[in-house]
Amino acid sequence: MNPLVNVAPDTSPQHDSARQKDSQKAGARVGLTADSITINGGKPLTGTIAVRGAKNLATKAMVAALLGETPSLLKDVPDISDVQVVRGLLEVYGVKVTTGARGEWTFDTGKVESAHFAEIDAHAGASRIPILFCGPLLHRLGEARIPDLGGCRIGDRPIDFHLDALRKFGAVVDKTYEGINLTAPNGLKGALIELPYPSVGATEQVLLTAVRAQGITELKNAAIEPEIMDLIAILQKMGAIISVEPNRVILIEGVDRLEGYTHRALFDRNEVASWASAALVTKGDIFVQGARQTEMMTFLNVYRKVGGAFDIQEDGIRFWHPGGDLKPVTIETDVHPGFMTDWQQPLIVALTQAHGVSVVHETVYENRFGFSEALNEMGADIVVHKEGLPGYPRRVARRDFEQAAIITGPTKLHGANIYVPDLRGGFSHLIAALSAEGQSVISNMGIISRGYEHIIDKLEALGADFVYEG
Ligand code: EPU
Repeated sequence: MNPLVNVAPDTSPQHDSARQKDSQKAGARVGLTADSITINGGKPLTGTIAVRGAKNLATKAMVAALLGETPSLLKDVPDISDVQVVRGLLEVYGVKVTTGARGEWTFDTGKVESAHFAEIDAHAGASRIPILFCGPLLHRLGEARIPDLGGCRIGDRPIDFHLDALRKFGAVVDKTYEGINLTAPNGLKGALIELPYPSVGATEQVLLTAVRAQGITELKNAAIEPEIMDLIAILQKMGAIISVEPNRVILIEGVDRLEGYTHRALFDRNEVASWASAALVTKGDIFVQGARQTEMMTFLNVYRKVGGAFDIQEDGIRFWHPGGDLKPVTIETDVHPGFMTDWQQPLIVALTQAHGVSVVHETVYENRFGFSEALNEMGADIVVHKEGLPGYPRRVARRDFEQAAIITGPTKLHGANIYVPDLRGGFSHLIAALSAEGQSVISNMGIISRGYEHIIDKLEALGADFVYEG
């Protein structure tokens, strides 16, 4: 077996080490710790697993509940540590959170109160979620705080789109030693905002702020991911007036009052793509209950081009390796409706088994190929070009920091000891180990609980050969 492979962590904003520590803390609450799993690879994953609400919707829907004067009910809340982080934050602000069977959570916002930096910090760690509380808190309390998310990181980490938008609504942003204080001495007013990039988080920020701002907000260059559309659906249920116009324009007419909502969270597209890749890599056959075609079309096209098979059924999608050679592809990650950045890591593991050279351009985050080092230790042939590939034919314009990974396959993967660096990279290591020849030990499994619900139970249901030390 190989010595412990220490991979460079993914440095996309969500994945700094402070947040990882925090997620582990929250992970403990859902029964997971910094733990390890010993895998005997080479066995196809076959069976049925279910996905529930999307991490990247449920957490935002929980923040939206703060805007309602009456309680909200969110269904299909996944049992993952990121959700627990938001729950902790809501409780800090006086929201009564009640959890029921089948992921049905209620949020009673009758007694919303302000919180201190230290309390917020203790619950959020380096998470970016506190930023999204700004609009709702400014409306409810007239003030909001974003703690210093770990040393000087807040200055370096890009929340510029968020702060610029909040200023346009009339918020006063005061950077202090402890963090950022926001106030709205004259209330919040609708604004004309054009995002420099269709950022998911900044679009959510604008939506959560504009719905109760006075007057009309026009947001240009908005993100239009399905999770954003689901958030808009929730806000509409609450009483908001939002219209999605052509060309990434969203118009929001502010209203005086919003009520609570009842909503079933959109399924987790990232989890579906992850298990689909797992089926391909392990030459398995996985039925993912709860997956839907419409929101997965871009992924399904690529899956088919690589040589994966799928069957869309009423209550889910079956993914499998139909035999024969996998084919190489060229992919550019992009904002919706493009190929999501979160889908590339698990798919790259499958591409190590394709016959030929695949190219993956990462255009959303600055450094999301760190996980490939461990794959190379396992026998993959992945070369990362940190400056992208100049002159390579591209569908969308290059971004300044674009990187490209060249994956040459097929390569036999063998077992290794890997310390999981982050959520999506970690899942990729896991499925590489499941397909590899020999034994692997994957540690820091708890971090995968940030975004993958009941991962150990699911591996068991799919017939993986492993010993878990929790
Ligand atoms: N950006 C800025 N300034 C800002 C905000 C963003 O420069 O103020 C840049 C970012 O640095 C990045 C790009 O804009 O280069 C895109 O960031 P975006 O704001 O769209 O991403 P996000 O809202 O921070 C969400 C998901 C990510 C997912 C991206 C893209 C959540 C909690 N996170 O992040 O999910 O990759 O959208 O779809 O919703 C994951 O689930 O593992 C994950 C990382």
